[in-house]
Amino acid sequence: MDLKAWLADTRLVVCVGSGGVGKTTSAAAIGLYAATMGRKAMVLTIDPAKRLANSLGLETMGGEPTRIDLGPLGDGVAADGELWAMMLDSRGTFDDLIGRIAPDEAARDRILANHVYRHMADAFAGSQDYMATEKLYDLVQDGRWDLIVLDTPPVKNALDFLESPGRVVRFLDEKVLGWLLAPYDRQAVWGSRIMQGTSTIVFRLLGMVFGKEFLDDLATFLQDFGGLYDGFRARHAAVVALLRADTTQFLAVCAPTTSSTDVARFFLEELEARDLPRAGILVNQVHRTAFDEVGVPDDLRAVAQRVAADMPEGTIDRVLGRLQRAHVRLRALAATEQAQAASVGQAAHGVGFLQQVPRIRGEVHDLSSLLKVGQAIFEVDAPQA
Ligand SMILES: Nc1ncnc2c1ncn2[C@@H]1O[C@H](COP(=O)(O)OP(=O)(O)O)[C@@H](O)[C@H]1O
Ligand SMILES: [Mg+2]
Repeated sequence: MDLKAWLADTRLVVCVGSGGVGKTTSAAAIGLYAATMGRKAMVLTIDPAKRLANSLGLETMGGEPTRIDLGPLGDGVAADGELWAMMLDSRGTFDDLIGRIAPDEAARDRILANHVYRHMADAFAGSQDYMATEKLYDLVQDGRWDLIVLDTPPVKNALDFLESPGRVVRFLDEKVLGWLLAPYDRQAVWGSRIMQGTSTIVFRLLGMVFGKEFLDDLATFLQDFGGLYDGFRARHAAVVALLRADTTQFLAVCAPTTSSTDVARFFLEELEARDLPRAGILVNQVHRTAFDEVGVPDDLRAVAQRVAADMPEGTIDRVLGRLQRAHVRLRALAATEQAQAASVGQAAHGVGFLQQVPRIRGEVHDLSSLLKVGQAIFEVDAPQA
């Protein structure tokens, strides 16, 4: 399967998987490779390794879209394309969002200054996956990029990310607010029941516990925030539509280990259950061995003999013996990894591709090593899983 063609038809790639497997690396490599194909790519990243962020010039940029200078790769490598990157700023995102959907400035300022809001915003700011989907919506609306690659946060529960777009809506629908505003009838009109029935008792109790000032804050918050319901609902619907679009592809990234491929398998199932578009699986950091035979190849022995000509007798054999044992171990590791890849490939059968990405020497923290990862993804035909 030609992954270049796959990428050309895609406008949003969402990289999912467990932590530490290479989601951020893959997301950046995909964005970079797209830029070399002439695309204007944006990588929305959550937690880039410090050295990667540094070398991309991301560290000082906060939550603003930053264009990456691809000059170091050499002239013409990405002549028509652009690579942009941005780090998620969870705190800023929620306040921005209120600014966007509040009916007017006065309402916005009132909400932003409200103590109850601040508490809630802090709670939601900790939820990076929710913020990522909010930011994603903004980036798509912006229209400056023809490809967005979303790196997803390391989540405790792999499902959190998929559930996140609806979180605020559900919060407004069912949780604290729904209960306070409409204790008897969930469909009741917003705000109309604040001071009736059970709520009144609850409010009195809250007043006794937290004081009148808190109560005033809460009442104002409930009324103002309740008014934002339609805005949240509309955004939620738009994000869900975006995640379902034909041009969106979810890519499960994993390492060739049992635990990581289990998570990838689980993600594929969950995506299918939600009817979300699955591209396939990247098995990252696969070890490759140069020689197939377990024995020391003759040419290696010849080289060793030349190099160690003046060393004590037996040195070469001892060195070659060690090399051979290391080689046997590496081959065993590679074989185990191939078995992992094959088994996760079965789970992905009929879904999409299964691409293996070799472990690159050293870490992937600059443009040229990112490009190597990109080439490993896109310039080797991937088997259809
Ligand atoms: N193909 C690869 N070869 C070598 N090192 C890699 C490769 N992919 C990722 N890494 C390294 O592994 C570490 C974790 O990668 P990262 O992309 O930050 O993982 P995640 O975002 O899934 O937590 C980083 O130090 C990165 O440089
Ligand atoms: Mg990461």
